Amino acid sequence: SMVRHYKFSVVMKNTTRLCATKPIVTVNGKFPGPTLYAREDDTVIVRVVNHVNYNATIHWHGIRQLRTGWSDGPAYITQCPIQPGQSYQYNFTLMGQRGTLLWHAHISWLRATLHGAIVILPKRGIPYPFPKPDKELVIILGEWWKSDVEAVINQAIQSGLPPNVSDAHTINGYPGPVPNCSSQGGYTLHVESDKTYLLRIINAAVNDELFFMIAKHQLTIVEVDATYTKPFKTDHIFIGPGQTTNALLAADQATGKYLIAASPFMDAPIPIDNLTGIATLRYKETITNSPLILTNIPPQNATPLTSTFIDSLLSLNSKQYPATVPLTVDYSLLFTVGVGVNPCATCVNGSQLVANINNVTFVMPTTALLQAHYYNISGVFTDDFPGNPLMPYNYTGNPPANMQTMNGTRLYRLAYNSSVQIVLQGTAVIAPENHPTHLHGYNVFAVGKGLGNFDPVNDPKKFNLVDPIERNTIGVPSGGWTAIRFRADNPGVWLLHCHLEVHTTWGLKMAFVVDNGKGPNESLLPPPSDLPTC
Ligand code: C2O
Repeated sequence: SMVRHYKFSVVMKNTTRLCATKPIVTVNGKFPGPTLYAREDDTVIVRVVNHVNYNATIHWHGIRQLRTGWSDGPAYITQCPIQPGQSYQYNFTLMGQRGTLLWHAHISWLRATLHGAIVILPKRGIPYPFPKPDKELVIILGEWWKSDVEAVINQAIQSGLPPNVSDAHTINGYPGPVPNCSSQGGYTLHVESDKTYLLRIINAAVNDELFFMIAKHQLTIVEVDATYTKPFKTDHIFIGPGQTTNALLAADQATGKYLIAASPFMDAPIPIDNLTGIATLRYKETITNSPLILTNIPPQNATPLTSTFIDSLLSLNSKQYPATVPLTVDYSLLFTVGVGVNPCATCVNGSQLVANINNVTFVMPTTALLQAHYYNISGVFTDDFPGNPLMPYNYTGNPPANMQTMNGTRLYRLAYNSSVQIVLQGTAVIAPENHPTHLHGYNVFAVGKGLGNFDPVNDPKKFNLVDPIERNTIGVPSGGWTAIRFRADNPGVWLLHCHLEVHTTWGLKMAFVVDNGKGPNESLLPPPSDLPTC
């Protein structure tokens, strides 16, 4: 193993998309940002220097950060922001992880343009558990607003209304051809006949879950969120913000040009009118004027496609890569997740959209929680987050019960190495919506899911404790529930939130505080000397 050094300069860069130019926040002037390459067991040191007029932090999404929570990155959770003109060095070791992840800003909505890929190769000499591809490519899906993204969210917060949807989806930074604007084709994926490609697909979009597809080509899924899966073939990938999917693409069709598309999924009756992201798969010997071969784009509400995809995902669970599902449970928690409404005198309709977990709308502290925990600073958080909903819930009700939320910076305390089960129950107070829920510092096993209300007597009997998918971001199905399990073997403060950024903004987040263990390598390491102060 080795130490890899990176320098990330956060700088503004004038960028043109959809026929308009605006300054955006970037790392090293690139959109998407640079790819961070490393091998399993390497140590990565990234010096982030903030040259813009916004506070910034970077989160290494899906990296376990074992005992190094100081390098996790969510603002006011594990660190204070890196202020304009300041710098901070993130320092972490990639233990027991290989695959594709992403890094992104973790403050306000800066991650709209401040994101990039993390590629962790297996240790030298260790092969993939699937046929070696001829070539590997990173595919980053994103969203583009013509207007300033920080203005979009600030206006939404002030008005209490939903933010404007993005104007387009992007594939490796480009929306593709746009009517009345440009015929510029966007990103081109160049292939040679009969070769195999490993696509490392990342959803870095802010608010949209996406379908991804390539006309006439099937994809073989081999990994999600840097964990290997049982391989399966599919026409469409379903991927939520924060999730990653590695897929093998065989260039086995006739020479030509094929449509690649990234289109939004939304099961709530909310119209999304942003453009589908378009790119081109192009075979080497394609003649210049050959027509683009098209594919059917799934409708926005194609829920059955999402369940077929999710139900096909299983851990590889091989001898070398076993699924270490906790078989017993020390903490059995039930978290309701959803969006609701609170009164707001200064808002447009006298009310504002808010979101909650167990009727608690998370209020961001002004000091980082990890510092408050490490130095025993009182008054920053309480550790009384409810393990069950405070109000009776009934998703199937119409109108549904359980509208109330209360503000709080409440954490749930877990003993070191305990095993935890959380049933994430969608409440659908406003409308049923899928919530891609991310737990920092951990991978979780998705042991069960269902529609309607979770049944604590019968549903656990159907849990998959053998080879459930292991990932860091799990969808809570719209109008239903997902059960996850993990072992609390990483001391520190770890955020759990919906990765639809608008829901995070509205308060759909909470955090766990995981105590130190008693053994020699079971406690949070001390903070680095350059840790920013608030
Ligand atoms: Cu990818 Cu807390 O986020």
